[in-house]
Amino acid sequence: TYPTRVDSVGSRPARASETPTTLRIDAGLAAWIADVTALTEPSNVVWCDGSTAEYDLLTKAMVAQGTLIRLNPEWRPNSFLARSDPADVARVEDRTFICSTTEIDAGPTNNWREPAEMKAELTTHFRGSMRGRTMYVVPFSMGPVGGPLSQVGVQVTDSPYVVVSMALMTRIGTDVLNLITDDAPWVPALHSVGAPLTPGAVDVAWPHNASKYIAHFPETREIWSFGSGYGGNALLGKKCFALRIASVMARDEGWMAEHMLLVKITSPEGRVYHVAAAFPSACGKTNLAMLKPTVPGWKVETIGDDIVWMRPGPDGKLRAINPERGFFGVAPGTGIETNQTAVDTMWGNTIFTNVALRDDGDVWWEGLTPTPPAHLLDWQGNDWTPASSTPAAHPNARFTVTADQCPSIAEEWESPEGVVVDAILFGGRRPSTVPLVAQSKNWAHGVFVGATMASETTAAAAGAVGRLRHDPFAMLPFVGYNMADYFQHWLDMGDVLGENAPPIFQVNWFRKNDAGSYIWPGFSENSRVVEWIIRRLEGDVAARQTPIGGLPLVHELNVEGLGLSDSDVATLTGVDKAAWLAEADETATYFDSLGADRMPETLMTELARLRAGLAKL
Ligand code: GDP
Ligand code: PGA
Ligand code: MN
Ligand code: MN
Repeated sequence: TYPTRVDSVGSRPARASETPTTLRIDAGLAAWIADVTALTEPSNVVWCDGSTAEYDLLTKAMVAQGTLIRLNPEWRPNSFLARSDPADVARVEDRTFICSTTEIDAGPTNNWREPAEMKAELTTHFRGSMRGRTMYVVPFSMGPVGGPLSQVGVQVTDSPYVVVSMALMTRIGTDVLNLITDDAPWVPALHSVGAPLTPGAVDVAWPHNASKYIAHFPETREIWSFGSGYGGNALLGKKCFALRIASVMARDEGWMAEHMLLVKITSPEGRVYHVAAAFPSACGKTNLAMLKPTVPGWKVETIGDDIVWMRPGPDGKLRAINPERGFFGVAPGTGIETNQTAVDTMWGNTIFTNVALRDDGDVWWEGLTPTPPAHLLDWQGNDWTPASSTPAAHPNARFTVTADQCPSIAEEWESPEGVVVDAILFGGRRPSTVPLVAQSKNWAHGVFVGATMASETTAAAAGAVGRLRHDPFAMLPFVGYNMADYFQHWLDMGDVLGENAPPIFQVNWFRKNDAGSYIWPGFSENSRVVEWIIRRLEGDVAARQTPIGGLPLVHELNVEGLGLSDSDVATLTGVDKAAWLAEADETATYFDSLGADRMPETLMTELARLRAGLAKL
């Protein structure tokens, strides 16, 4: 039941294709392109203009080549399925490097390499790496083109899949090129799948290299990514620029680059609030960003689902933009019962990666519909039936689609100055200890809560799933510098914001009971927690002050009709003293591991306060 109109990508009008000879190209950019061309030796170079015609040409070529499968236009117009190599399905955190001049500036949570050494090593990999391939030059803007909070970069890549994904996820094209001048900073972002083609060789559907490097040079604001075609490793505007490099820019320039969703909330009384929330990868950002409230009278609209840039505005209030243009969402678990809005967003003009293919030429994944089709081709192209022992879609299968197709998109989502942030949320997958919702006592305590976040690992990154790990501010894989310095930057921003600093809340949709099932129904029912948070902002409900923050009074949290027992509600709104004492010990060890000399004193004081408060319970 999707509209059957065949549209251009998003609502962007087609732009005339221009050739480099008619463009004014910045001398520094031209020199960089010349260097990269000499190093990687592509067979030709294409400057991308961001037009619909260019997008269509690239997708057509990839269908012919086998990288993309065109889905049945009757069900999914202008949409494609990509099957990645099974060894290239997620971000590779152990191959992600922060190459600051000194190791201490990368900090203990990042892999560090000396910049000159890393460039020398990578140069041997990039030498001739684009042989037999086309090199695409993709000028892109993070944030509305020319906006006061926006930044520009140029990605060079030998992957047409990356070009079309960048076209959906960022603003690419000629108008960005005009912003690149020698007196304006821009980020060079070099990418190769690392699979040169010898003359006459047949290409594979998903070229990549067993040896992968996602390297960042924070001082010179450069990105070098080699060997992977997967989104988080290869769409360099996203994690590499908008989080790792941008976090360094933000530290130096007094703003914030965060792994957050951004929503506009309208209360039944018509009052408007904007909330930003940091959850680790595959922990519910896209779902909360597209929340359909079950509580009558409330409205939630989407501004962003993964990355937020925030800066104090002229009025002293924190203003936020979504620097992206689209969504790169987790497919499994996204369905008509959990996130109808996301399902409606991807009615067409969507690229799916590693989902299953239906016999009728449409897509499917676990959780899309309650009952799986009787037969599918799984994410690797093998026959699949409900009796199969492996999932039909890869657990980190993704959809890529522009935000303007989202039925819940807020009208101000592209506002260049951004929206005022009224509250900040931190959350993660915590089967125990952390309550459903708690309000931090003040900014410093909120920063402590962010710094002490932990969450179970997910399929978004290569490695074990379900292992509890520290993930401060949901930024463990994304802070481009020393983590203790990043904590200090959050504290400094609180000083700058003063009375305008938004209240901070901790949430946890993933608390489990003794039987191992989620206590809280989650998804749309999270609107009940949103209601409590907004009522706190308005001063309409009280909070029980505890050492971990302000907790809901049981009768003021709307759990009507959910079928929760009194003991469930007590678990969701209580302080488990023994668990929190153990948590505090663990925090002490963790803070120590981040460098006792570098850890902000304020956070050590917050830890001491937590312990003292718990002791008195
Ligand atoms: P993101 O990667 O942070 O944007 O997370 P998503 O919103 O894509 O969700 C990742 C996974 O968590 C999906 O499988 C969702 O179905 C699941 N999820 C999201 N919100 C909830 C929730 O409130 N409760 C539960 N139990 N699962 C959720
Ligand atoms: P996610 O984005 O947060 O939506 O999972 C991708 C990622 O973080 O790898
Ligand atoms: Mn993310
Ligand atoms: Mn997401």
